Formats: sequence, structure tokens, C-alpha cells
Amino acid sequence: MRLGAARFVAGETLKEAIEQVRLLNNDGLVVTLDHLGEFVFDEHEAFASTQACLDVLDAIHASGVKSNMSLKMTSLGLDLSKELCMKHMRMILDKARELDNFVRIDMEDYAHIDVTMEIFDELKREYGKHVGLVIQAYLYRTVDDMKRLETEFESMNLRLVKGAYLESPKVAYPDMADVNKNYLKIIEMHLLSGHYSAVASHDDMVINWTKEFVKKHNIPNEQFEFQMLYGVRPETQRELVREGYTMRVYVPYGNDWYGYFSRRIAERPANALFIIKNMFRK
Ligand code: FDA
Repeated sequence: MRLGAARFVAGETLKEAIEQVRLLNNDGLVVTLDHLGEFVFDEHEAFASTQACLDVLDAIHASGVKSNMSLKMTSLGLDLSKELCMKHMRMILDKARELDNFVRIDMEDYAHIDVTMEIFDELKREYGKHVGLVIQAYLYRTVDDMKRLETEFESMNLRLVKGAYLESPKVAYPDMADVNKNYLKIIEMHLLSGHYSAVASHDDMVINWTKEFVKKHNIPNEQFEFQMLYGVRPETQRELVREGYTMRVYVPYGNDWYGYFSRRIAERPANALFIIKNMFRK
């Protein structure tokens, strides 16, 4: 952890994570906290992850920090059974509703997308504004999925991302230029739909394009936010706050940081270089 992941992971304990959230809040940034975990194949472990999510919601409430929560359903037993995962999700969403908070379901690899959509649809009907989803621009099916969600539900808070998993060209654009094109298309669609958008990207092209677009179409700041990952472009995050935008930082914490950390390196090999340089610095 000390050899690199600490730049992207806010500690191994919830207490450490809440301290980091407080520091970010002091700089005007809001947060989504994520207890790291994914691809759990053991029922006890899935229950432990569920308990960790409940603890996150309690800690946010008790400390008064400005944060909601993100989670991955494979950490709650999605691969064991849909029913088990739904049972755990309901425990978490009952708590989120009780504490008037919000839970974002991260979108994982393509193999899980259908079941994630099915579960989300059901939970969205039960829990309304307390639950949201992520949409990945690299998938061919994304525009259709978005259209359906926007018309079926009265309010549809979506985080829009490029997509982080290695997918087959049968289901996802292999070329980054096409991903970028589709990304701008879905940001435009969702902003114009009147639903709430979270534009989650570190890409200046995307951020600047969004700023221009909302200005041109008089879309109020209350209808969207920018999101970035903890440890990535921290100066830009603060600059966006100074410009008056809502900027939410995705703050992961916990022991199970390997998969998350590896994706950050895969996305941007320069991150590895940064870590190596910092290993030799005080
Ligand atoms: P990309 O990685 O394409 O970079 C484009 C450009 O941005 C670079 O060329 C550079 O100019 C600039 N840039 C990027 N990183 C930089 C850095 N460190 N320093 C300086 N410049 C940099 N994915 C998923 O599949 N499911 C999910 O649920 C989520 N959730 C999620 C939440 C949040 C808050 C974020 C920010 C991202 C996700 N993702 C995700 C990940 C997402 O799909 C994507 O893999 C990464 O955000 C990387 O794509 P970018 O849009 O950031 O730009």
C-alpha cells in the first residue's frame, strides 16, 4: 500500500477515510465513499462487505461529512445469486433512505451488465432518489440503455464514464476516438433530458466541452456535477470548485485495493511512473 496505492486509496480503515473526506470537504469538494471490494464468491465475505457499506453510511451520518456512497454489487455476492445480492442491496438502501443519503451502483464488466440493470430497475422503483447507476460510453448498447432509463423513470441520476474494463470489440468500441464521440453524445443526451448528470472524467477535452455545453443551453449548476477519482488531478478538482461547479471525489478505502489500483495503472501508465518517482521522495 505504501509503495503506491496510497495515492489512490484513502487508507485501510473507515476512520482514516472519514478524515480524508473531511479534508476534501474543507476544500469545497464533496465525496462519494467506496469500501473497496469486488468479485466476491463467498457468502460470509459478501455479508461482511454489506456490513461495511452499512458502516460507511452510519459513519457519514455520525461525522456529518458531505458524502454519499458508491459500491460494486459483485462485492455483495452478485456472482453467488441475484437474490442474495438484492437482499444485501435492500439492507443498504433501507439505511440510505433512513439517513437520507444516496447510493451509486458502479457499473462493472460486461458480463454483469444485464443483471445489474435488472436489479437496478427493481431497486429504483422501491427506493427512488436514494439510488443511482453508472453508464459506460464504450458500450454499443449505451445510448439505448440511457433512452430507456430516461423515459421509464421520473428522475434518473446517472454517472457517465468512458468505461474501465477490457471488453471485446463485439460489445464495446475498440477505438478511443469512438468512445470519446459516444461519451459526448451521452453527456449531451442526459444533460438535455433534464435528469441529473455526473460527468466523471479527468479529460480536459470532456470537461471543457461540458462547461461550454451547459453555458450554451442554460443548464443550471444544480443539474450536474463533475466527478474525479481520489488522487487524480487534485489541482484541477479544486479549480473546478473555485469556478463554482460541484466537484465530487470518488474516495476508495479498505484492504481490497489491488483490482482498483491496477485499473488506474492500466488507464494511465504515467501513474506508475509517478508512483515510482514518489517512492524515492520523502
Ligand atoms: P482518459 O483516461 O481517457 O484520459 C484522457 C485524458 O485526460 C488524458 O489524455 C489526459 O489528458 C487527461 N488525464 C487523465 N488522467 C490524468 C492525470 N492523472 N493527470 C493529468 N491528466 C490526466 N468506470 C467503469 O467502468 N465503471 C464505473 O462505475 C466507473 N466509475 C468511475 C467513477 C469516477 C468518479 C471516475 C472519475 C471514473 C469512473 N470510472 C468507472 C472510470 C472511467 O470509466 C475511466 O476508465 C476513467 O475515468 C479514465 O477515463 P477519463 O475520462 O478520466 O480519461
